[in-house]
Amino acid sequence: MLTLALNILDIVQNSIRAKASEISVDIIESKKTDLLEIGVGDNGKGMPEELLSKVTDPFVTTRTTRKIGMGLPLFKYQANLAGGDLSIESGEGKGTRVKVTFILGHVDRQPLGDIAGVMTILMSANPEISFLYSHKTDNGDYRFSSVETKEYLGIKNFNDSHLLMDIKEMINENLKDIGVSDLN
Ligand SMILES: Nc1ncnc2c1ncn2[C@@H]1O[C@H](COP(=O)(O)OP(=O)(O)OP(=O)(O)O)[C@@H](O)[C@H]1O
Ligand SMILES: [Mg+2]
Repeated sequence: MLTLALNILDIVQNSIRAKASEISVDIIESKKTDLLEIGVGDNGKGMPEELLSKVTDPFVTTRTTRKIGMGLPLFKYQANLAGGDLSIESGEGKGTRVKVTFILGHVDRQPLGDIAGVMTILMSANPEISFLYSHKTDNGDYRFSSVETKEYLGIKNFNDSHLLMDIKEMINENLKDIGVSDLN
């Protein structure tokens, strides 16, 4: 099944293509409010007003290799199936923020999936980009910064596969500690 983590990967690809140097992924899930919220923010080139108004329509894309952009419309469709929605704020030269909401306990909500794997792959493939990942639950907060981690470890990139596995495992352990359930 397509997971939220894979949808996030797709949304972050847009930020990378928009030449962002900083990308943040924020997840807030609360059993108390029965809500799951995903935010992806970037400081990339942003979108002009007329594109922004059409971008969740599946027949719009600025790609020349392929006519139909499907990332945002599909994610919006998934959110709508689970009682939520997708909204985008963007300004040309300012960056973009995509916000997606779901009813946490909705039967049609996609599972979170391998978010730790997705974040580590993104960080190793894009060493020049600063990634910030934060995850909040009713039990606590977890925050991972690619820049701080590289500084701490005294490295310039995450291209050592053993190190990458360790980091992925550490993120998973921290997510489990705050009660994130549908990881894998
Ligand atoms: N973070 C972003 N910054 C700037 N422009 C964006 C961003 N996200 C989306 N866009 C614009 O919106 C368009 C539609 O995005 P969407 O992800 O739906 O499709 P796509 O990226 O074109 O194709 P696909 O995701 O199917 O490979 C993109 O082509 C791009 O022009
Ligand atoms: Mg896309």
